[in-house]
Amino acid sequence: MPEDAVTMDKIVALCKRRGFIFASSEIYGGIGSTYDYGHYGVLLKTNVKNEWWRSMLSERDDIVALDSAILQHPRVWEASGHLAGFTDPMVDCRTCKERFRADHLAERAPGLACPRKPSKPPGEGPDCDLTAARDFNLMFKTTVGPVEETGSVAYLRPETAQGIFINFKNVLQFSRKKPPFGIAQVGKSFRNEITPGNFVFRTREFEQMEMEFFVPPPEAPAWYETWKAERFDWYQRLGIRPEKLRLREHGGGELSHYSSATADVEYRFPIGWSELEGVANRGDFDLTQHALFSGEKLEYYDQPTGERYVPHVIEPAAGADRATLAFLADAYDEETVEGELRTVLKLHPRLAPVKVAVLPLVRKDGQPEMARELFAALRGTMQSELDEGGSIGKRYRRQDEIGTPYCVTVDHQSIEDRTVTVRERDSLTQERVAADALPGHLAARLSAPWRSPKLR
Ligand code: GAP
Repeated sequence: MPEDAVTMDKIVALCKRRGFIFASSEIYGGIGSTYDYGHYGVLLKTNVKNEWWRSMLSERDDIVALDSAILQHPRVWEASGHLAGFTDPMVDCRTCKERFRADHLAERAPGLACPRKPSKPPGEGPDCDLTAARDFNLMFKTTVGPVEETGSVAYLRPETAQGIFINFKNVLQFSRKKPPFGIAQVGKSFRNEITPGNFVFRTREFEQMEMEFFVPPPEAPAWYETWKAERFDWYQRLGIRPEKLRLREHGGGELSHYSSATADVEYRFPIGWSELEGVANRGDFDLTQHALFSGEKLEYYDQPTGERYVPHVIEPAAGADRATLAFLADAYDEETVEGELRTVLKLHPRLAPVKVAVLPLVRKDGQPEMARELFAALRGTMQSELDEGGSIGKRYRRQDEIGTPYCVTVDHQSIEDRTVTVRERDSLTQERVAADALPGHLAARLSAPWRSPKLR
């Protein structure tokens, strides 16, 4: 396949066609850049999050889990700096009422055009009338309490990280951990992004997978290197091709107010190289700020040495939706098989929404009954699907498009000798297997090491 057979349009079309992800509130005409996940999208994104949890919890013993509230005390956002600093300077056009990011205007970002005269950049059309740049806070504001006027202001969290910092003391008390140790959290975050877009790459409501790793201050630089390497590797272990990934260290001017060093894991999306995940050395900024604003001591006391210190924090912060998009883009493939175009998602089997589909060749002669029996034996241990309708070719194409690694076909021979064929998605090889050995056979193949067939 030419390397770039995948485009954002093809991903969007496949996601809609096969029920992975579709525009939200469609029956009301949609609400911009907001998406709903359908059955296969839920399974895929859940697998991505489970793989993240596995790498943080099951494969290590120095990280614990947390699920903090979305609504937090408004002082949290004062302490974190989000209330004062989480802004984008914006410019409005009084004529067309469009809003533009000031930095995009200043750098004449490609594709930015005056809506009334698209051959010109905004501000250079004959009727353009731009305001001066003004700051817009990206946090969604709401009111807590029954009456809007008297209720207190609250914000939907713009990151999951602060929920971790404000629980540092609780976790330290109950987890019996000492630095270096981490607290991991997965959950929704909300940002009133001025320029959402590119499907689920940038939306106003999204899921983050964040881990705050608390370390003795002198160890912070080494742990920063460790986490950059580990997170870069995680995507490759799940099948992303190395040539599509890079680590980009931020320059001084790019660093957030809290960070002394940040690197982005970038993926070469169909829209170009873009951030997939950030790894930051946040120093003691967050614990110090929350201690200052709350009056609580947020430090570690090491009894044996009598030492008391504020741990430094290394933070790998990933997006579940953005990672899902990267896995989809990397897995998307088109190839010609027996003169026909085959679209296939060559997803890592651990990420594939459905692991096995059971297909009776015809809807008679006992085949559907045997297929149902096999499906019942498989579905308790692996995500399985029974697909009885339509031509076998159509059913294979459907399973290829949702990335199902194995299709089990029940045919006339199956009824005679209780064997079935197992078709492999990537190689298209077919193997005859005894029906009674099928669960063990598939479990072994699904847990075997896997390498993207797109790696040449
Ligand atoms: N706690 C640090 C933090 O939130 P970030 O770089 O702003 O850092 C981390 O966000 C990750 O969250 C990003 O790398 C991206 O994967 C995801 N993310 C951020 N904003 C997003 C948005 N508007 N839509 C989808 N994903 C987003």
